[in-house]
Amino acid sequence: MMRCFLDKQMAPSDFAKANIEQVLNTLTTDEAISLTAGVGFWHTHAIERLGIPAVKVSDGPNGIRGNHFFMGTPAKCLPSSTAIGATWDPKLVEEVGLKLLAEEAKLRSASLVLAPTCNIQRNPLGGRSFESFSEDPFLSGIIASAYVKGVQSGGIGTTIKHFVANDKEDDRMAYDSILSERALREIYLMPFMLAQKHAQPWAYMTAYNRVNGTHASENAFLLKKLLRDEWKFDGMVMSDWFGTFGVDPALKAGLDLEMPGTNKWRTLDYVNRLIVARKVNVRTIKQRAKQVLELVQKCAQGAPEVLDGDGAERTVDTPESTELLRKVAAESIVLLRNENSVLPLKPQELKKIAIVGPNAKAIVLSGGGSAALKASFFITPFEGIVKALDGSGAEITYSEGARAYKTMPSLDYEMFTASGQRGWVGTWHKHESDDSLVPLDEVIQEQVIDETRIFISLSTPPGITKRWTLKLRGQLKPRDKDCKFEFGLTVAGRAKLFVDGNLVIDNWTRQRRGEDFFGVGTVEEKGTYDLKAGAKHDILVEFCNVRGPADGDEDEAVMDSNPGVRLGGAEVEDSDALLESAVSLAKEADAVIAVVGLNADWETEGYDRTTLALPGRTDELIAKVAAANKNTVVVTQSGSAITMPWSDSVPAIVHAWYLGNASGDAIADVLFGKHNPSGKLSLTFPKREEDIPSFGHFHSEDGKVRYAEDLYVGYKHYQHRNIAPLYAFGHGLSYTTFSLSNLQLSAPSISNNEFNLVVSLNVANTGSVAGSEVAQVYIAPPTTSALSHPPLQLKGWNKVRDLAPGQEEKIEVVLDKYAVSYWSEDRGVWAVEKGVYGVKVGTSSDKLVLEEIFEIKDGFEWTGI
Ligand code: BGC
Repeated sequence: MMRCFLDKQMAPSDFAKANIEQVLNTLTTDEAISLTAGVGFWHTHAIERLGIPAVKVSDGPNGIRGNHFFMGTPAKCLPSSTAIGATWDPKLVEEVGLKLLAEEAKLRSASLVLAPTCNIQRNPLGGRSFESFSEDPFLSGIIASAYVKGVQSGGIGTTIKHFVANDKEDDRMAYDSILSERALREIYLMPFMLAQKHAQPWAYMTAYNRVNGTHASENAFLLKKLLRDEWKFDGMVMSDWFGTFGVDPALKAGLDLEMPGTNKWRTLDYVNRLIVARKVNVRTIKQRAKQVLELVQKCAQGAPEVLDGDGAERTVDTPESTELLRKVAAESIVLLRNENSVLPLKPQELKKIAIVGPNAKAIVLSGGGSAALKASFFITPFEGIVKALDGSGAEITYSEGARAYKTMPSLDYEMFTASGQRGWVGTWHKHESDDSLVPLDEVIQEQVIDETRIFISLSTPPGITKRWTLKLRGQLKPRDKDCKFEFGLTVAGRAKLFVDGNLVIDNWTRQRRGEDFFGVGTVEEKGTYDLKAGAKHDILVEFCNVRGPADGDEDEAVMDSNPGVRLGGAEVEDSDALLESAVSLAKEADAVIAVVGLNADWETEGYDRTTLALPGRTDELIAKVAAANKNTVVVTQSGSAITMPWSDSVPAIVHAWYLGNASGDAIADVLFGKHNPSGKLSLTFPKREEDIPSFGHFHSEDGKVRYAEDLYVGYKHYQHRNIAPLYAFGHGLSYTTFSLSNLQLSAPSISNNEFNLVVSLNVANTGSVAGSEVAQVYIAPPTTSALSHPPLQLKGWNKVRDLAPGQEEKIEVVLDKYAVSYWSEDRGVWAVEKGVYGVKVGTSSDKLVLEEIFEIKDGFEWTGI
C-alpha cells in the first residue's frame, strides 16, 4: 500500500534504505519515546513524517495466529514445541520454519514472529511446558537455532522468549527465580545462547518473572551485561505482554520496546517527567528507539511485501503445506513401547477394531494460551484411523470410555443458527452510557460466530461504549435421544445462560474468581437441562464486559482488554456405563486403539498442572480395556510428561504430543506403519511426581522459586540419583532395529580457545523395514574434577535417515568447546578442565552402548559465545 511519507510517494518498505543515524538525529524526543512502546496489541509505532512504518508481530510458536483471538483467521497449527524437539531433526525444523512459519507469517501480514519459546521443563507440571522444546538445553538450543534460521531465511524475524527462567506459570508476573549463576548459564540461558551463536534471532522477549531479585524486563545483568556485552546481541528486546513493571529501570536496563501498547507505562507525559527529573536521559531513550528502528528496517528488508501489503490476514492450505504438516507431526511421534511387535497394526488381519478413549474424537491440537489458534482444518485421531482403514474391510466400533475434560467441551460444532449455519448469532449492544450497566436494544453489529470460546480481547466493534453487551443466540444440534445435558459457562465479565428462555446458569449476580482467560475469568459454573430427542433447543447467552461481584472481591471492574465468555457442554453420562461400554467393545474386538491424554485446558498459560496423572477415570479405563483385550494400543496426547500406571500391562504405547492440524493422519501413519516412528523423547517421563528433580520446591513460596536441584535438571537428575524413569530422555522405538558400532574419536584439538573433536561411528539397520535412528552423544566430566557436574550431558547427535534393511552408514558428530565447558562462578568465565572425559553413545540416554575416552591435557577459559 503506498502512503505519503515525507511528502513523497513512498512505500513503507522504502525504510529498508533509510539511514538510521540520520533518522535518529531527526527524531524529536516525543517521537523517540513513542517508538519505545507498541500501539494496540500487535504493532510498533509508525512515524509517517519520517517514513517509519509500523511492523506487526504475531504469536508463536506452533503456528502464526494473527491479530485476533476472537474469530481469528484460521491458521496452520504445527505440533507443540516438545513434539518438534522430539524430531531431533534440525534440517526438518529449518524447512518447517521457512515453508510453514515464515510463509504463514506473510499470509497474516506479520513481520515478526513471537517465537520460539526456549524455557526449560524443570518440572513437567509447568503449564507451558508444551511450548518449549526440551528439558535439555543443548537439544533445545540446536532445535531453536534451526527454527530461527528457517523463519529468518524467509525474511521474517523471530523473537526468542521468555528470557529467562520463566519455567512455571502460577504467580508468573511476580515470582523470583532464585538460582545459581552456574545453573542459570549452563541450563536456562544455554538454549538462548546457542540460538544467539548459531542463528541470531532479531528480537528477544523478556520473561514476566524476576531472576535473582530483579524482574527480567528491568534486569541489567541479563539485558546489558549478558545479552549485549557478552553475547554481542544487536537486535531488539521487547517485554512480554503487560510484563513491564516500571519505566526508568526498564529503559535503563535495556528494554527497548514495551508491549503491548494498551495500558502502557511509556507515555509521553510520564517519560518526559522522568527526563526532567534526570531519572532517565534522552540519550538512553534514543538508544532504545534506535534498536526498534533497526528492527523495523530488518523487517522492511526481509519481507518488504508484508509492509507494502494490504495488512489482511489470509488462510491458504496447499497440498505441499498439508503434506509437510503431516510429515513433521509423524516425525515427532514417539513409540514408547511395542511388545511382541503389536505395532504396526495390519488391517487385513483385523476384522474388528475398537477405538476408545476421550481424546479419540476430541479437538486436541495444541496447548492453550497465546500458542493456541484456530486451525484451518483438523483431523481427529478417530477420523485419521477411519480414513486409513478405508477399504480394508475392518469393522470399527467406538466408545468415549471416560471423561477427560477440565472444562466442558466446546460446542463449536454443536451450535447452529436458525437458518442452519454452523455457529450462533452475536448482536453487540451499546449501553446507555460508558458507565451504565443497561444495554440498549439497538444492535450496532450482528455477526455469525462459529466459536463458543469467545475471547474478545480488543476486537470490539467501532463505536461501542466502554461497557457493552454481546447477546449470543443459537440452537443446539438436536440429539437422537432424550437426555440430560450439562452446560458450563465461564466468563471474564459476567454472563447468563438461558435455554428455551429458562435461566440455566447465572454467572452474573455472584461470581467465583477463576483462572481462565489469562487469569481474569471466573470458575466454570454449571447447570443441566433436559433435552428432547430431535428438538432444536434455543440457546441464549447474555454477556457483558463488566465483571460481577465475588465473595471477598466486590469490585465490578470493566474487562477492557480481555473480556471473554465460554460456553461448553456435554450429555450427562453415567461414568460406570461409559467405562463398561468401552470394555465390552474391547472384548469383542481383535485390537483396541485407546486415545487418551490432556488438552489445552490442562496445559496452558497462566496456571500449572497439579498432577501428572491422566484426568478422571482414564487410567482405570486403560487398565480395564487392556485386561479385556491383549492387543490394546494406547495413544497418548500431552505436551509434557504424564504418568502411566498401566504401562507394563499394555503391549504398545504411542506418544503423540499435540500434533496440530494433521493429528489424526499422522497418528494413523504410525499405527499402520506408513511411517516408521523415529521420534525420541525431548523430556523424561517419570514414574512418580516425587521423582521429579524440582519436587517439593517447584512452587512460588512467598514469591520465591528456589531452583534447588541446581544443574540436575531432567535426565541429569535421574542419572545422578540413580532413579529409573518411566521412559528416559531420548527414548523412542522403531519398527526396525539398529546396531551402533565402531566408535572412534579424533584427537582433541585446542587452538585459540576453541575445541574440536570428531566422534564417528557406524549405524546399521538390522531389522526388516527401512527406518531412521538418532545416535546420541553424551559427555561425562573428567573423573578428577573437584566440582560437581551432571554425570552425562547431551552434546551432540546425528539423525540417520531412511536406512534400508541391512544398510550401514558411517556418521560423524562434531563436538566444540560447549561440549567440555562449565561456568566457573569463581572466575566469571567459561572454563574447560584438564582431565579424562568420557564419551557415551547410544539411542537413548538410558541405552548408551558405546564408550570411549579422550584427554584434555591443558585446560582453558573463554568468554563471549
Ligand atoms: C505470552 C507471550 C505471548 C504474548 C502475546 C503473553 O501472555 O507470555 O508468550 O507472546 O502474550 O500474546
